[in-house]
Formats: sequence, C-alpha cells, structure tokens
Amino acid sequence: MNSMHETTEFDLQSRLPVARTPEQVRKKVAEARAKGHIIGFVPTMGALHAGHLSLIEHAKRRDAFVVVSIYVNPTQFAPHEDLSSYPRPFADDHRKCADAGVDLVFAPTDETMYPPGDETRVQPGALATGLCGPHRPGHFEGVCTVVARLFNLVAPDFACFGQKDAQQALIIKRMVTDLQYPIEIVVCPTLREPDGLALSSRNAYLSADERTRALCLYRALSAGRESLLTGNAAERAATVMHETIAQPAPPDAIDYLVAVDATNLQPVTEASRRVLLAGAIRIGKTRLIDNLLVDLPPQRT
Ligand code: PAJ
Repeated sequence: MNSMHETTEFDLQSRLPVARTPEQVRKKVAEARAKGHIIGFVPTMGALHAGHLSLIEHAKRRDAFVVVSIYVNPTQFAPHEDLSSYPRPFADDHRKCADAGVDLVFAPTDETMYPPGDETRVQPGALATGLCGPHRPGHFEGVCTVVARLFNLVAPDFACFGQKDAQQALIIKRMVTDLQYPIEIVVCPTLREPDGLALSSRNAYLSADERTRALCLYRALSAGRESLLTGNAAERAATVMHETIAQPAPPDAIDYLVAVDATNLQPVTEASRRVLLAGAIRIGKTRLIDNLLVDLPPQRT
C-alpha cells in the first residue's frame, strides 16, 4: 500500500507520474538512464496546445524517455504582465501529456525553482537586446535562469524548443554553448491554425473579434517573405510588412516588425543567408509574437 505522503506527491490515478521535487525528478531520470534510455526534455509553462504536443512528438520519435516540465516561471514576467492570470489547467495538461506518451511530468514548486535566499541569475548577452528584449525587461534573464536550473535538475541529452519563440531558442542555444551544458538543443517548427495563426497559450485570451484581427501578424510576415523571395532587400520587406499590417484592421500596437539576420538578430548584411521576419503586436490586452525564417535566394543584387 502507498502511504498518504506518496498519494499527494504522485497522481496515482494516472499512468503518468508527476515529480514535484528535485529528488523525485533525479530518481526517475536515473532509473530511466539505468534502463538504457536517452532523456528528452520539453520545458513548458503548461496550458498545453498542439504546438507543445508537436515538441513532445518530436522527442518521442527519437525514442527517448520524455520529461515535460510544467512551471509558470515568475522571473520571466515583468510586474505589469500576465503572471497571475496565466492559464494553469494542470489536470488537463497532465492528461494531454499522458495521451501523448510522456514518461514523466516535472511540476516543481516555486520553492524548488527559487530556494529561500535565491539570488543567482543567468544573464544573456547581445541576443537578448533586440526584438522582445526592450519590450520585456528581464524576460530573457528569467528564461535563462529557469531553463539553466531545469537543465541541472533533469540533465537531459536533448531538449526541444519551438521556432515560434525564435529569439528564446537562439538565446538558449547560446547559453548551452557558453555554459557548456552537454545538451543538444532541437528547434522544432511552428505549429499553426489552418488560417496561419501561430498556436499560443495566449490565444485563449482573444475574443472572437480579436481572434480575427490577430491574423494580421501572419499576413504581414507572409507578405514580407514574398517580398524577400522575389529578390527585394530586407528594408523593402520590412516596409511591405508594415504596409500589410496597417490595413484593413491594424493591431492595437506594434512592439516591433522587422527583418533581421537569423543567426545574430542584427541588421541584414551582404553576408546574410537567412532572414528572420519577426513581429510582436498587441491585440486588446494580449501580446502575440510570430516569425518566419526565409532562406535568401543565392544570387542577390
Ligand atoms: P511556453 O510558452 O509554454 O512554450 C513551451 C515551448 O513550446 C517553447 O519552446 C515554445 O517555443 C514552444 N511553442 C509554443 N508555441 C508553439 C507553436 N505554435 N509551435 C511549436 N512550438 C511552440 O517558452 C516557454 O514556455 C518558457 O519560456 C520556458 C522555455 C518553458 C521557460 O519558462
């Protein structure tokens, strides 16, 4: 018989165990390793949608023991942002993970991720200064700090991140190289609704009217891609994106809408081979981001 203690620590109703503490996650991962499994990791903040599930599928395809973390990380939210209202449908998320064949959910408490007296932070560099950086002060420091801690606790062989958060994925890759984590970072494509809207936990905030208007970002990025592929320069593509988003129904605000070099997020130069078209807009109270990667035609003038 299981003790009361174990009953609260693990959801025995389910096929899928939930680790809450460092000891629990380390034990489960060590057991999987002892059985010869490689460890795949998908960090999330929950409110799981098909985009998250596509990362999980990717990890499963590699025949790994798949750990999904569900943790709404307070340090990556600025004081005015949506930390308190961020959706936390844990039971649903747990069921989705079980259905997707996840092997372990790691749902740590704030005290686990930020022990009493906590004060150490992981500070990203130049990659965090553009795009979302100025609009979300401290955001990427919070992301790097929590992902570094999760990597230390889970110690996976590889971890999957979405291209949807292109700047985040680049910053994490840089962090892994710089801090010498022996972890492969796998960046998976953006999953979209049939009309092109990128799946996001924040789409749940949109009213029907806002949902229609939200599509302006994808339309603008697509027009920018078209422009680049027909041989136009990055500046022209950026202008086209701004013209496209302005009508018929512009967003309530544009944080940025740019064409940058996909490797360093700096302005596109003669040497650039890959362009990241990226935007962040506000529709009502909701902030949405999206991007498209475009390989430039080899011969450009
Ligand atoms: P979250 O927003 O929950 O996203 C978890 C992962 O899912 C990220 O790697 C994100 O890029 C990916 N993702 C989100 N929408 C996607 C889509 N439409 N298609 C494909 N992948 C998608 O990103 C975070 O959480 C946090 O910053 C985290 C890394 C967990 C650190 O707290």
